[in-house]
Amino acid sequence: MSTTPATLENFWMPFTPNRAFKAKPKLLVSAKDMHYTDSDGRQILDATSGLWCVNAGHGRAKITEAIQKQAAVMDFAPTFNMAHPLAFEFAHKLAGILPGDLKKVFYTNSGSESADTALKIALAYQRNRGHASKTRLIGRERAYHGVGFGGISVGGIVRNRMYFGSLLTGVDHLPHTHDPKLNAFSKGIPEHGADLADNLERLVALHDASTIAAVIVEPVAGSTGVLVPPKGYLQRLRALCDKHDILLIFDEVITGFGRLGAAFGADYFGVTPDIICMAKGITNAAVPMGAVAVSNRIYDTFMQTADVPIELFHGYTYSGHPLACAAGIATLEVYEEEALFKRANEIAPYWQEAMHSLRDAPHVIDIRNLGLIGGIELESRPGATTARALEVFDRCFDKGLLIRVTGDIIAMSPPLILEKAHIDQMVETIRAALKETT
Ligand SMILES: Cc1ncc(COP(=O)(O)O)c(C=O)c1O
Repeated sequence: MSTTPATLENFWMPFTPNRAFKAKPKLLVSAKDMHYTDSDGRQILDATSGLWCVNAGHGRAKITEAIQKQAAVMDFAPTFNMAHPLAFEFAHKLAGILPGDLKKVFYTNSGSESADTALKIALAYQRNRGHASKTRLIGRERAYHGVGFGGISVGGIVRNRMYFGSLLTGVDHLPHTHDPKLNAFSKGIPEHGADLADNLERLVALHDASTIAAVIVEPVAGSTGVLVPPKGYLQRLRALCDKHDILLIFDEVITGFGRLGAAFGADYFGVTPDIICMAKGITNAAVPMGAVAVSNRIYDTFMQTADVPIELFHGYTYSGHPLACAAGIATLEVYEEEALFKRANEIAPYWQEAMHSLRDAPHVIDIRNLGLIGGIELESRPGATTARALEVFDRCFDKGLLIRVTGDIIAMSPPLILEKAHIDQMVETIRAALKETT
């Protein structure tokens, strides 16, 4: 059977230069553990866990079997007014690894839906507890919270915002935390910049805390090129949110499920937010799913104050889809049985040194890392931002390595099952690709 489609015409590809892709397609046809196989039968080492999501590696038998079994028993059941046992079982299992008292789980189907759901819960919570004037949402420059209108409104990526009208009203942004002058080539958490969190005081002075519902941040910003928060920054943000009675939302769509060598970024940094957004690694990407965890306090407020039987007017047809719940339960079992979060933590120092060994490679102007995340920033070609990184991406793919590039930054997030030899191969391939790139 041919693995090449008869036509590439009809699929409008997301976040892709469609014209360039269709001129030189890259087609992946199967995947196992650390590797994809492409349509030419070549093995491609996956340095990106697909898209930051296949944390346990590809084609995990336990997860596949759980999905197959559930599909044969019951394909779908609604979770509006009724439900199925797996939805509760999975939420209970998730509660077992969620930090603090974030023990109530609302299901979505993606990271974007999780971000929008978290923002809506924050607004409704403030209203239900009698603080209806708290409607303002605070995001951050260079943030990515998916592509829903809520997510792009609090997000900070200009192209994701500028084409799409006036977005949500009543949104403001903190400055991003990236400071290459002070922190270039930091290993792990950068030293300088905790005081950037104090910009929340500035926004409170401008708008007044009585108008602010929530602050949303990614513990580590991934999509805009691996921006690791400075030492003490998240702690300071937490303290300021407490001081001003503002909810803190962590978007853990990429930092969740072991990426930093702990269950969540919240655990890694020792900072517990009020709401956590999840997706991606929640099912090892085998079935699309997202979720939002909220504190018992938030959930209880809804239960105690609702003036109509339905406490939250929100939900998706596929919230808690049986196949996703089956995949999720099996995924958490794989993480646990193989102690993959611990494993990520153990291999992270080797990963760090390997990433930073590229410091002397051509075009490299910064390297950033945390857990099993790596970012390598290249100097942009004058007048041609992203061109150099895209060429490196193509060269790496031709050499059998899948990386991800965003702007002129190479971003990597390999499956947590990787071995040192895989890391060596990634570094050698990137070095060779950088050497061949002008
Ligand atoms: C922090 C963060 N939030 C939200 C999303 C959006 O997730 P999805 O593409 O599943 O909608 C992403 C995707 O990369 C992300 O990194």
